[in-house]
Amino acid sequence: MIKIAIDLGSSTTKIYRADSGNGIALAEPSCVAVSGVERTVKAVGKDAKKLVGKTAEFTQIVFPIHEGEIVDGKLAAAMLKEFLNRVGVHPHLLKRVQTVFSVPCGASQTLLDDYALLAEECGLRKVLFVDAPYLAALGSDLVLSESNPIFTMDIGGGVTNVAVLSLGGIIAGLSMNLGGHNMDANIIEKMARQNGLNIGDLTAERIKNEIGSLSDKVRASTVAQGSSVQTFYPASIAVQSGEIADCIRVYIDKILEYAGMVLNQLPAEVAAAVHKNGLCLSGGVAKIDGVAEYVSRSLEMDVHVTEEPQFAVVLGGGMIARDQRLYNVFSKKYANV
Ligand SMILES: Nc1ncnc2c1ncn2[C@@H]1O[C@H](COP(=O)(O)OP(=O)(O)OP(=O)(O)O)[C@@H](O)[C@H]1O
Ligand SMILES: [Mg+2]
Repeated sequence: MIKIAIDLGSSTTKIYRADSGNGIALAEPSCVAVSGVERTVKAVGKDAKKLVGKTAEFTQIVFPIHEGEIVDGKLAAAMLKEFLNRVGVHPHLLKRVQTVFSVPCGASQTLLDDYALLAEECGLRKVLFVDAPYLAALGSDLVLSESNPIFTMDIGGGVTNVAVLSLGGIIAGLSMNLGGHNMDANIIEKMARQNGLNIGDLTAERIKNEIGSLSDKVRASTVAQGSSVQTFYPASIAVQSGEIADCIRVYIDKILEYAGMVLNQLPAEVAAAVHKNGLCLSGGVAKIDGVAEYVSRSLEMDVHVTEEPQFAVVLGGGMIARDQRLYNVFSKKYANV
């Protein structure tokens, strides 16, 4: 049996192979380059992302997963099939594959149907769909139990999942279409408005990840290259971390507002335990300097972040794929979905 876990992120698709080598076998941008009216696939994953902002008119870069939703089923299937191939799960092997597939917290039946259809189109037959917060907790090395509630927050590129859960179920939780992409868009807008510089998506993302910080002490800087808003000529300017801090902070504040709503729904005993245990923060945005500390100060509780928080969900999926006992526990839990 080939055992895998898939985290189909809005930014990055991650695949874990639990049968050979036990590890992350793929992490590639969730995008496809297509050309012409027939939308022929020209490149997938990192090869496609290299083309963002640089393509000729007849080539288009598509992110088939947007804010956690499958917005282009056909291209999502073409992309995932290619990724499966890249991790050695070739078409003739598909019959023997058992998959743990992450889905956003509290996904609607329509979205779950879309995921099921996608898996089917890729030839994956035995698939266990699991709410992302369980996977984020497991992949952050937390132990799930019936009695001890875990508070998780995963901030990805397009989706944030917030949940309080125990092995018994999700006590309160929600997913919202907010994440790193909003911050990138905010940086683009601010550069144009304040500095008269047009920059592309990749540049904005690089600036955010390289010098973005919510700590007052950090004063990093980088050079942003783009074109002048007025003359359209190539131009570049130096950017300080302080100038883009607000572009990040506004979205973290929004997320914290929703997290407050989740916490407000908790029974008193659970709320007390959550406060004592703290928050498990994951997703790529948790890597941005000062975000964990900012969240900790705002929520007035400890925040735990693993070394590679962008992989927490797929690592959690890998743990379930690998461990038959855990797999059976989750199979029972999702038997009626
Ligand atoms: N060092 C980093 N490595 C990867 N992503 C980072 C890093 N620092 C910040 N990020 C940001 O984190 C986001 C990607 O995180 P993640 O991989 O968890 O998202 P995703 O799972 O693809 O998307 P989603 O869960 O929202 O559907 C992007 O906005 C990216 O720019
Ligand atoms: Mg994710």
